[in-house]
Amino acid sequence: MEKKIIAITKGDGIGPEVINEALKILEVIQNYTDLEFDLKEAPAGGAVWKETGNNLPDKSWQTILNSDALLFGAIGLPGLPEGVAESAILKIRQGLDLYVNLRPIKLYEPLRDRCPLKDEYIGEGIDITIIRENTEGLYANIGGILKDEIAINNMIFTRKGCERIIRYAFEAAKRRNHKKITSVDKANILKPSQLWRKIFNEIGQEYKEIKQENIYVDAFCQWLIRAPYSYETVVTGNLFGDIISDEGAFLIGSLGMASSGNIHPGKVSMFEPIHGSAPDIAGKNIANPIGAILSVKLMMEESFKRQNIAKIIENSVEEALTEGRTKDISNENLKTVSTQDMGDLISNKLKSKLKK
Ligand code: NAI
Ligand code: MG
Repeated sequence: MEKKIIAITKGDGIGPEVINEALKILEVIQNYTDLEFDLKEAPAGGAVWKETGNNLPDKSWQTILNSDALLFGAIGLPGLPEGVAESAILKIRQGLDLYVNLRPIKLYEPLRDRCPLKDEYIGEGIDITIIRENTEGLYANIGGILKDEIAINNMIFTRKGCERIIRYAFEAAKRRNHKKITSVDKANILKPSQLWRKIFNEIGQEYKEIKQENIYVDAFCQWLIRAPYSYETVVTGNLFGDIISDEGAFLIGSLGMASSGNIHPGKVSMFEPIHGSAPDIAGKNIANPIGAILSVKLMMEESFKRQNIAKIIENSVEEALTEGRTKDISNENLKTVSTQDMGDLISNKLKSKLKK
């Protein structure tokens, strides 16, 4: 048995609903593989802020620090001042120096009908790994509002920051057997992008077997919907990554399908669906739990190096999508299922595959 401590932050709104389904997946893995989990709740967000005045109580933070990985739902409650709940995420990202934001954009074949693109643009399918720098750039929070309402933020890129994310991206591309890596920047205008591109081309020398291309972010935004099938690994800075990963998320059928990792390789990393707490559907048992379930898949891959388990989770999701659908991805020929039913459907598939 290999034991892993997993901190669990369910959060607010649909966070607890989708994480409860992801926990079913962890339970099956624990029952049918050599992995054993010690699950420790680490409350954070709006509800706990209301109770304690702190969106990330010290006890939760200690739990996270002492874990092998963090599974995170979503936080945010209507009626609270802006950011009061959500800033807990920034505290975690900064506190753990989670410099990689990993966003897989994969359109599962059964969901082709839910992709907003015409078939000719989907081509042979969409399977892109977007890797975003998560700590610097325009979001480094350096700036302010000066007199006469002049607002400034500085875009900070450091060699250290660029090197570590670009190297991670090349290694990730290699692990996934990707033939091509695309770096997205704005080097025709921005100095930080020029440093970025220089470092990308430098590090690229060590990975000559992977085809490398540089593309400006404006052009990329167009190509991402014009020929999404032509991208494999994409690496970019904080601002551009934020924008293009949301554009990409819409291509896979629903916000509820998308998972992400906030990673520091070798250290405690955080895995979460990309959606928020969705107060409009909270408590109705209709949220799509697949983004949360695929976050467990990412955890298996990135933190625990269990590519085989990850693959089986993914196959279970893909199969389940041919049988039942939550409301956000509904299909008239398939039964519409609840959050809990979707979790059962996928965990039962996983169970029967792992039993073999
Ligand atoms: P949201 O992602 O919560 O919801 C946007 C829309 O997508 C809503 O119509 C919602 O019903 C739908 N949706 C989201 N997840 C879904 C799922 N799993 N299944 C089916 N439909 C789903 O974004 P919104 O409404 O802008 O934010 C709500 C709250 O969440 C705010 O407080 C916001 O700050 C917070 N938030 C938290 C995040 C986090 O915890 N990482 C990320 C984004 C927003
Ligand atoms: Mg965003």
